[in-house]
Amino acid sequence: MSSAPAQPDDLTVVVLAAGGGTRMKSKTMKVLHPISGRSMLGHVLHAVRSTRPRRVVAVIGTQREQVGPHVLEHVPDALLAVQETPEGTAHAVRAAVETLLASDGDLIGTVLVTAGDTPMLEGESLRDFVADHRRSGRAVSILTGRVADPTGYGRIVREPDGSVAAIVEEKEASDYQREINEINSGILAFDAAFLRSALPRIDNDNAKGEYYLTDAIALARADGLQVGAFPVADVTQTEGANDRAQLADLAREMNQRILRRWMREGVTVLDPLTTWVDADVVLAPDVTILPGVQLLGTTIVNEDAVIGPDSTLRDVEVGQGAKVVRTHAELAVIGPAAQVGPFSYLRPGTRIGTQGKVGTFVETKNSEIAAGAKVPHLSYIGDTEIGEGTNIGAGTITANYDGVSKHRTVVGRHARTGSNNTFVAPVRIGDGAVTGAGTTVRKDVPAGALAVSAGTQRHLEEWVLQRRAGTAAAEAAAAALDAERTGEQGSAGEDA
Ligand code: UD1
Ligand code: CA
Repeated sequence: MSSAPAQPDDLTVVVLAAGGGTRMKSKTMKVLHPISGRSMLGHVLHAVRSTRPRRVVAVIGTQREQVGPHVLEHVPDALLAVQETPEGTAHAVRAAVETLLASDGDLIGTVLVTAGDTPMLEGESLRDFVADHRRSGRAVSILTGRVADPTGYGRIVREPDGSVAAIVEEKEASDYQREINEINSGILAFDAAFLRSALPRIDNDNAKGEYYLTDAIALARADGLQVGAFPVADVTQTEGANDRAQLADLAREMNQRILRRWMREGVTVLDPLTTWVDADVVLAPDVTILPGVQLLGTTIVNEDAVIGPDSTLRDVEVGQGAKVVRTHAELAVIGPAAQVGPFSYLRPGTRIGTQGKVGTFVETKNSEIAAGAKVPHLSYIGDTEIGEGTNIGAGTITANYDGVSKHRTVVGRHARTGSNNTFVAPVRIGDGAVTGAGTTVRKDVPAGALAVSAGTQRHLEEWVLQRRAGTAAAEAAAAALDAERTGEQGSAGEDA
């Protein structure tokens, strides 16, 4: 967008995002509901941006404290127009036009109006639509689609000669008109001058008591101006989501589209029906995704990595050739040729180096596991640095939290720690050090030392028989001790 003076070929985009969306039955405003990792509105703004408009104005109202900042995240220089009460799409566009005039003093060229709840719409279709509208010299153009079930949409009513006469909303439609399956996508392109002349003439004398933007079509006809439809071949792009059932249908379709795009780019997706990949995920050629995988947020997977089965990665970077099996990971970096899982939980701040390993029933958080280091089994590793080539024994717990603050554990390079260790942080284990099984490390271990903390094993003989008399354990112990004694006597007798 630029601040140059308005030109006749200017494109201004109005995004309608003020209606609450009562049919969602949600405390979250409709256009903020997510699909493929972005809000519906986020998808629309993404497509809008690709038309390179001079200005974008978003109409906000319901939950404007959330919607306004959300718009600016996607389009930082967007104008925000406030519609105090949701009195219909024409009323919303009126608020947009007032804001535009207040900011620029003029409004010329083309005004493209888009809804905030048509997330499937692609930038390319919007660009084609705008180009067609400009070429045609029409006062209004409608992006339309022929859908299997037109329920809920405004119908495109045509004259016997095929020209567009009007858009009739569902509630106003006659039985005959309801059969029409060519629908208004909600995306309209206007000549700015006509739009300004039409808005004050639209009333709310209809079934919903709302100002319908779609009434502008009949007004243009009455003015003797040209109107027309631009049917989009890929009708799914015109679909809107008014309730959660429609949202789920669109989400499945969008996901399939995303998967097909990656498959064409060289990604193997074994089971597209159980694989979910968000819109902002990036996959390299020869990545393999096994069934039951969700790749979410801004996850990046590099070449030859294999993910799955049954893994969820959010905002994770996976290195070339890494294997991630039955894993839940968030905000983590998995190095090249690293191995994760099965059954690993990587929490934010986990970084695994080249050929590192995090194995079965291991939870990690805010920890660096350097190249070739391994945490293979049953461990909790938090606020820890593990040096290159080090092996952490099964059942290791970093006691990083003393109830007040978190402390760090640092394990050096090529160390080998024993099974069932507890590292009581803050603590350091030196390079090449070894710890015995069951060690509780409370003091720093020097490089190359063997640390053992358990005292010599002691036995309080027959403790269970006395202190747990009458229990199954006491009975079992008594029987074993009896057998030992008679056995000793028996063998002594034989020897004699
Ligand atoms: C609208 C169209 C319908 C079209 C359908 C496509 C009108 C009158 N009807 O119906 O012809 O087939 O979209 O999906 O235009 N909004 C506001 N302020 C308001 C009302 C709505 O900002 O006062 C916003 C909503 O947040 C939404 C968009 O406008 O993003 C469309 O509103 P919605 O209520 O979903 O319209 P539909 O009934 O779907
Ligand atoms: Ca809608």
